[in-house]
Amino acid sequence: MTDHTHLPHRPEPYWRESGKLPSFPALSADIEVDAAVVGGGITGITAAYLLAKEGLSVALLEADLLVNGTTGHTTAKITAQHDVIYDELIHHFGEEKARAYYDANDEALQLMKNLISEHSIDCDFSEQDAYIYVTEEKNAEKIEKEARAYETLGIPGGYVDQLPIGLKIHSGVVMKNQAQFNPVKYLIPLVKELQAMGVQIYEHTRVNDAEKGSPAKVKTLDGHTVTCRHAVSCSHFPFMDGKGMYFARLHPERSYVVAGKISKPYAGGMYLSADSPSRSIRYTPMNGEELILIGGEGHKTGQSKDTMKHYEALRTFGQTDLDLKETLYRWSAQDLFSVDTLPYIGHLTEDYPNVFVATGFRKWGMAFGTAAAVMARDYVIGKENKYADLFTPSRFKADPGLKTLVAENTNVAGHLIGGKLSPADKKMEELHPDEGALVHYNGQKAAVYKDENGQITAVDATCTHMGCEVAWNSGDRTWDCPCHGSRFSVDGEVVEGPADTPLKKLN
Ligand SMILES: Cc1cc2nc3c(=O)[nH]c(=O)nc-3n(C[C@H](O)[C@H](O)[C@H](O)COP(=O)(O)OP(=O)(O)OC[C@H]3O[C@@H](n4cnc5c(N)ncnc54)[C@H](O)[C@@H]3O)c2cc1C
Ligand code: FES
Repeated sequence: MTDHTHLPHRPEPYWRESGKLPSFPALSADIEVDAAVVGGGITGITAAYLLAKEGLSVALLEADLLVNGTTGHTTAKITAQHDVIYDELIHHFGEEKARAYYDANDEALQLMKNLISEHSIDCDFSEQDAYIYVTEEKNAEKIEKEARAYETLGIPGGYVDQLPIGLKIHSGVVMKNQAQFNPVKYLIPLVKELQAMGVQIYEHTRVNDAEKGSPAKVKTLDGHTVTCRHAVSCSHFPFMDGKGMYFARLHPERSYVVAGKISKPYAGGMYLSADSPSRSIRYTPMNGEELILIGGEGHKTGQSKDTMKHYEALRTFGQTDLDLKETLYRWSAQDLFSVDTLPYIGHLTEDYPNVFVATGFRKWGMAFGTAAAVMARDYVIGKENKYADLFTPSRFKADPGLKTLVAENTNVAGHLIGGKLSPADKKMEELHPDEGALVHYNGQKAAVYKDENGQITAVDATCTHMGCEVAWNSGDRTWDCPCHGSRFSVDGEVVEGPADTPLKKLN
C-alpha cells in the first residue's frame, strides 16, 4: 500500500472553500418552461444565463449540487491550447476547421472576459500565456510540428526553448494571452444573475429521460415532468441516450491535482507537458499568497489499481521540479473523451431534434463549455452558429474516430466479461481499516468497505448502468465503474452517472 500520510486526508478542491453557492430545493411538482437545462456546471449555468438573457423562461436541473461536478474540481485554465493538437487537427480536418476550433475557444474566452467585466466578477481572473512542452528529445518532433501548425493557422505564439518558471525542458510552444480564474468565484455571481432573471433552479433533481415530440417532456427520477420547447443536456454523459450510442462513443478519464505552496515567487504562466505522464501547472492567488496547482496522472476511470499513488507522483514532481513545500489540497475528477478529439455539441439524435447535448470536452471544458453554451442558445433561438457543423454529434465520417470507437468498445467489453470472471481482490480478513476491495461475502463477490472502526458495508459489485464490475478508488473512497465511469459511494449511492440507480445493498 502507498504511504500517503503526508497528503491531506480530505479530497476537496480549493475552489469550493473559496466561495459559497446558494442552495436550492429539489423539484417537487410538474412545471412548464421554454428551456430545461440539465446539469449545473459551467456549461449548464452559462447556457441557462444566455437563454434567460434572451427572455426565455428557463429551469436549471442539477442531480447533486451546483458546481460540485467536474467544474468544481478543475484546474480552470481558460485556453485554446488543448495539448498538442493543431497539427493533428489540420491533418484530419483541414486548416479551416482547425482554425475554427481555435476561434470557438478564443471567442469563449472573450465572452467570459466580457461577463466578468459586465458583472464586476472578482474571480482571480488573469491573462496568462499557455505553454506546452516536452522534456525529452524523442518527443521534440511533435513540438516542432505544433509550432508550424500555429504559424499556418495564425495562432499568436510559437516555438520556445525555455520556460519562465525555469523548468528544464527540451522545447515547447507558447499560446499568448490565455487566462486562468477561480470557477466557483466566477459562477456564484452568474447563479445570482439567474435568480434575478427568474430562472427556476433545482438541486438534488436527477433527470433520466425525455419523451419524444414537441414540446419535449423531460422526466426526473422522482417522477416529475418538465414540459419545454427545448432541453439542453450539460450533464457530462447525456441524461438520455436517444439511440445516439453515446455510451459507446464517450469514455471517461480521471486525473489528479495537488495544490500547495512553493518556496519562491511563481514566475507566472500556465504549463502542460506533452510527455507521458503529463503534468499541468498553474498558480492561483490565495489569501495574499500563491497556491500552486499541479495536475496530471490521467487514466481511464476505474482502471487504476491504487489511486493514491497518482497523488504521490504529483507531489514528488512538485518537490523535485518546483520546490513544493507543503501540500494543502488534493482532489481528482473525470471528464469525457469523444472518439475523434472534438466534443459533441448539437442535437442529441434525429429522433430528438429538440434535445441539445454538450459533452466530450476532453478536460478542456472551461472555454469549450462556454462555447457550447453559446451554441445551445443559438440552437434554441433558431440562430445560425458557424461552429454547428464542426461539433455536431451526428458527424461520423470520423477519422481516426472509428478506430478509437472499436478500441474503446473492446476495452468496455473486456471489463464487462473480464470483471465477472476475475477472482476476488482479497479475503475479508485481509481488508485493512478504511479500505475497500472486491471480496467473497455471503457466497458472492461483493464490493466491501471496512471503515476505520472495522464496520463492514457490502454492496453488489455489478454497476447498475450496464453491468460491468466496479473497482475501489482509494483516493476518493468510491466504487468506480471501468466501463462508462459511473461512481458510487461506499454504501452504493450514485455519485456520478450515467448510472442512476444505486448499487444493491448487501448488509
Ligand atoms: C482534473 C481536471 C482538470 C481540468 N482542468 C481543466 C482546465 O484547466 N481547463 C479546462 O478548460 N478544463 C479543464 N478540465 C475539464 C473541465 O473541468 C470540464 O470539461 C468542465 O468542468 C465540464 O463542465 P460541465 O459543466 O460540462 O460538466 P460538470 O461540471 O461535470 O457539470 C455537469 C453537472 O451535471 C450534473 N448531472 C449529471 N447527470 C445529471 C442528470 N442525469 N440530471 C441532472 N444533473 C446531472 C452533475 O451532477 C454535474 O453537476 C479539467 C478536468 C479535470 C478532471
Ligand atoms: S456499466 Fe456503464 S457505467 Fe458501469
